[in-house]
Amino acid sequence: MPMFYGAAGGHMVFRPLGKTVCIERDLMVAFGLRSLLVMTLALWSWGAVAAEWEYDEQNAGYINMVCAGCHGEYGQGGGGGEYPRIAGLPEAYIAAQLRLFKDQKRVNLPMIPFTKERELPEPDLRDISRYLSGIQLRNQFPPTDTVMDGLERLKQAKQVVQIPRYEGDIDAGKGIYRADCRECHGNDGMGKKDAPQLAGQFSGYLLKQMKEFVAGRRKHEYTEEMFSDLTDEDYANLLAYLSILDD
Ligand code: HEC
Ligand code: HEC
Repeated sequence: MPMFYGAAGGHMVFRPLGKTVCIERDLMVAFGLRSLLVMTLALWSWGAVAAEWEYDEQNAGYINMVCAGCHGEYGQGGGGGEYPRIAGLPEAYIAAQLRLFKDQKRVNLPMIPFTKERELPEPDLRDISRYLSGIQLRNQFPPTDTVMDGLERLKQAKQVVQIPRYEGDIDAGKGIYRADCRECHGNDGMGKKDAPQLAGQFSGYLLKQMKEFVAGRRKHEYTEEMFSDLTDEDYANLLAYLSILDD
């Protein structure tokens, strides 16, 4: 609440024509009403600001410098998938995951300090979600017929994510994917509505998430039906299939 109106209750002295007239009571009533009005206006405009959030790309760029420490400068992920790729995921999905981390409904120790309300209030959360969602990574290095300096090459290399082939039976994995996953995660694992793309995401990270679902540490629709009876071989086959989708 606006602290500066606390002064309204103080001792107010008014000096017309050299005479001291204390009109404290009148002022208190007037200030009381005024501060109520101001508070109402303040609340109303805060609500309007929240509703009228406007994307601030520069702010998002600053926030991304923090995220980059783990997820890479372009949200490309790192550590062989210990830090997932977050570039190009659906904006609403990123925002939803950040809120889950914030509320610790999706528990992930490394993310806790960065999603606290003080570090990542809602407008920042929305800025960074839009920013990351808009980054388009390549799955192949661009043709090298243009002359490029070392730094430029390095920059380009960071924007290429190519998931290494995962050991397993691709056709068997495709069968499971088509039967159980495609409906939500889309053709070719490219994602659909609120289900994120699985193609182009690190295999080790995906495997960890599926185990989190089964253990009940992270929520996924129909976990029982879909994941609980998958064998380790099925997981490997699924991941083998998903790993070739970005080739
Ligand atoms: C200290 C390292 C670290 C930092 C810094 C960090 N993250 Fe993460 N983040 C992780 C890890 C580890 C995971 C994987 C969690 C898991 O395995 O479930 C993750 C997961 C995520 C996910 C979920 C991806 C998915 O596919 O569901 C999002 C979104 C995300 N981070 C966004 C961010 C944003 C935005 C920032 C900056 C504000 C950030 N992270 C900063 C370590 C970090
Ligand atoms: C009914 C729709 C639906 C079906 C069917 C489905 N999923 Fe999902 N999946 C989702 C949604 C929605 C999410 C995002 C969950 C969240 O918000 O945390 C998700 C998330 C995931 C994630 C986490 C991705 C990430 O970036 O962290 C993995 C892995 C996954 N699903 C694998 C699968 C696999 C494998 C199958 C098939 C065996 C499957 N899903 C079937 C809806 C579905």
